[in-house]
Amino acid sequence: MTKPIRAKISALGTYVPPRLLTNADLEKMVDTTNEWIMTRVGIRERHVVDKGVATSDLAVEAAKQALAQGGRAPTDIDAIIVGTVTPDMLFPSTACLVQHKLGAKGAWGFDLSAACSAFIYSLQVGAQFIAGGLHKRVLVIGADVMSSIIDYTDRATCVIFGDGAGAALLEPAEDDSVGLIDYIHEVDGSGGCYLYMPGGGSLHPSTRQTVDQKMHYVHQDGQQVFKFAVRKQTELCQKLLERNGLKGSDIDAFIPHQANLRIISATADRLGLRPESVIVNIERYGNTTAGTIPLAMGTALEEGKLKKGNLVMLASVGAGFTIGATLLRWAY
Ligand code: UT7
Repeated sequence: MTKPIRAKISALGTYVPPRLLTNADLEKMVDTTNEWIMTRVGIRERHVVDKGVATSDLAVEAAKQALAQGGRAPTDIDAIIVGTVTPDMLFPSTACLVQHKLGAKGAWGFDLSAACSAFIYSLQVGAQFIAGGLHKRVLVIGADVMSSIIDYTDRATCVIFGDGAGAALLEPAEDDSVGLIDYIHEVDGSGGCYLYMPGGGSLHPSTRQTVDQKMHYVHQDGQQVFKFAVRKQTELCQKLLERNGLKGSDIDAFIPHQANLRIISATADRLGLRPESVIVNIERYGNTTAGTIPLAMGTALEEGKLKKGNLVMLASVGAGFTIGATLLRWAY
């Protein structure tokens, strides 16, 4: 059997819309305080779109940046995978809209629904196309406009989320010194009732009644999600480290989903990570769902914490529940 071709992230692009929604703004909208949000979640501000701006617009900006950085043209792309829970519309897929807006003639693509784990799930799906040798360039995008599905009168959810996108260009790695090494994914559908948007699908198509009942918004039992996130994220990362003969302290950059600073800290402590290896930017962006991990990769690059050959671990827990952990060596 021929050895699968290893995929590497050869370029990254990120984008957040310019408009800021700060804790001070939220204090005027709901019964909350900057102090509560900072201590319980760790967010100071998030970015939100203006009316008329959709997920595909954010995705295209991030993709353009990734292509420019990688020195590739849109027509070089074989496939586009967009991880999102806030597609512009139910169909056509956001990937089709991105393909058209980018001018990626000849590419194919699809959306992947895995909530906050969508970027790392998409990364592994894209890597399989590279591994099989059929594709040379896959654009993997995590993008969400969470502000389109948030109830800005519900203080339990509206302080948490923001809008943003990131795009990674996947290409074949020249050798095994860089690129994606291993991953573990798991879903647990029994947790679906703790974080979901009930309206607008085939079970509860949108009607005046579903809107009156606020079924088109995110519903979350925060404590259940919190406990599950800490436990399962740690468990999968631990397994991944063990089966690769590694310890937490071997990781150069831990890039987790940014849902709550306390979830990140608890996971990092349990895994025995070096504090300086933990990448955090939740304060500036909030939880952008599929956008958090590529945005945090961008932060790690900005802070000089990602160098060629560095050992990186990605981790996420999201609605579903979906859980994922990925090990890779940074490629540039
Ligand atoms: O990315 C998808 C995955 N999602 C997550 O990982 C989210 C996981 N969950 C969390 O991050 C946390 O559970 C939250 C940030 C959502 C909530 O924090 P918490 O520490 O679990 O708070 P809680 O729900 O236990 O609420 C504690 C108190 C309650 O008041 P009482 O009942 O003690 O009087 C809430 O009503 O805080 C109150 N509260 C708020 N107070 C001020 C809830 N939201 C707010 C708020 N401002 N925004």
